[in-house]
Amino acid sequence: MANPSLLILPGDGIGPEVMAEVRKIIDWFGNRRGLAFDVSEDLVGGAAYDAHGTPLSDATMARAQEVDAVLLGAVGGPKYDSLDFSVKPERGLLRLRKEMDLYANLRPAQCFDALADFSSLKREVVAGLDIMIVRELTSGIYFGEPRGIHTEGNERVGINTQRYTESEIARVARSAFELARKRSNKVCSMEKANVMESGILWREVVQEVHDREYPDVELSHMYADAGAMQLTRWPRQFDVIVTDNLFGDLLSDLAAMLTGSLGMLPSASLGAPMANGRPKALYEPVHGSAPDIAGKALANPIACILSFAMALRYSFDLGDEADRLEAAVQTVLAQGLRTADLMGPEGGSPVSTTAMGDAIVAALDASAA
Ligand code: NAD
Ligand code: IPM
Ligand code: MN
Repeated sequence: MANPSLLILPGDGIGPEVMAEVRKIIDWFGNRRGLAFDVSEDLVGGAAYDAHGTPLSDATMARAQEVDAVLLGAVGGPKYDSLDFSVKPERGLLRLRKEMDLYANLRPAQCFDALADFSSLKREVVAGLDIMIVRELTSGIYFGEPRGIHTEGNERVGINTQRYTESEIARVARSAFELARKRSNKVCSMEKANVMESGILWREVVQEVHDREYPDVELSHMYADAGAMQLTRWPRQFDVIVTDNLFGDLLSDLAAMLTGSLGMLPSASLGAPMANGRPKALYEPVHGSAPDIAGKALANPIACILSFAMALRYSFDLGDEADRLEAAVQTVLAQGLRTADLMGPEGGSPVSTTAMGDAIVAALDASAA
């Protein structure tokens, strides 16, 4: 049987830096666990624009549709800020999500015990935190029509449209309920049904799917603004949160700080099952290209490494190997290894991106000895 295929798209800024560390991990699983992947690499974002004049070439798009999983670093950066909107780096990522129909974006936020003091919130609020934000990823205001900037009279008007169909809401709700059954069986759905019709529909459809198919799961609803407040007040009240594209974007960055750093948060974007029964999938850290630290060996590679762990779990059915990798990350954090983003205000001696990757490989070695 052919090896499972993996398309790697390092992208821009710190993307290639953190991806180089993931490469070491992939090699380790190949050499030490006999898990050979058929790895190919290509360009996305500004890097693809520089080479081809487009943030995602048709050939790369086609390859992404064929492989078992895509792993992406990050896209964007100030160099591309003045580009036309249609060729901005971020459009490459959005095209991947849309054309692969990756409607369920899983963004876990877990506070590792060794980092509980690095969150901007108190240890007793975040210690032991383990929540999963399920963000709808292919619809809503990110993609709704009409959109654009036009002139009305003597001024410009900017328009985006929040649009959700019943089936789009139902399928992401199912993803959330399925995940909840494997966790603490609890889902909180967030929208603004108090001010948005799309929010009213969202609430109704989530409730209907629940009553019809998942009555055993505990379901609650919350306005997304109150949800943001509750996430910082008492985050451990949540298990799975399901929400729309834009609210999910905001709430997952907020959740990142509960874990200590944006450099810690992985994500999986999943679509419908392929012929082999596994979902179409793209894995990427929640963070961006971090232009302020790019090229300085300061980036934390853990979010990208944990994204690969999610690939092992969700695309390759290798939950035990994913556990092994997550345990190796916990080990190095418990040993006190910290990249600069995990230093806290009083400082310390941070390790470089590559030193963190090497330490995780060493912890894997120890686990397999
Ligand atoms: P960002 O996530 O790139 O950075 C926010 C802050 O977090 C910065 O101070 C950065 O140094 C820090 N940070 C992020 N990741 C880190 C890591 N792994 N290790 C250490 N520190 C880290 O967000 P931004 O500055 O708002 O955006 C920069 C660019 O990235 C923009 O072009 C944006 O569109 C793009 N972006 C891309 C993605 C993606 O590719 N998925 C996600 C978010 C933002
Ligand atoms: C994210 C990013 C993206 C988003 C951008 C880069 C398109 O912020 O993945 O969270 O807004 O979805
Ligand atoms: Mn974001």
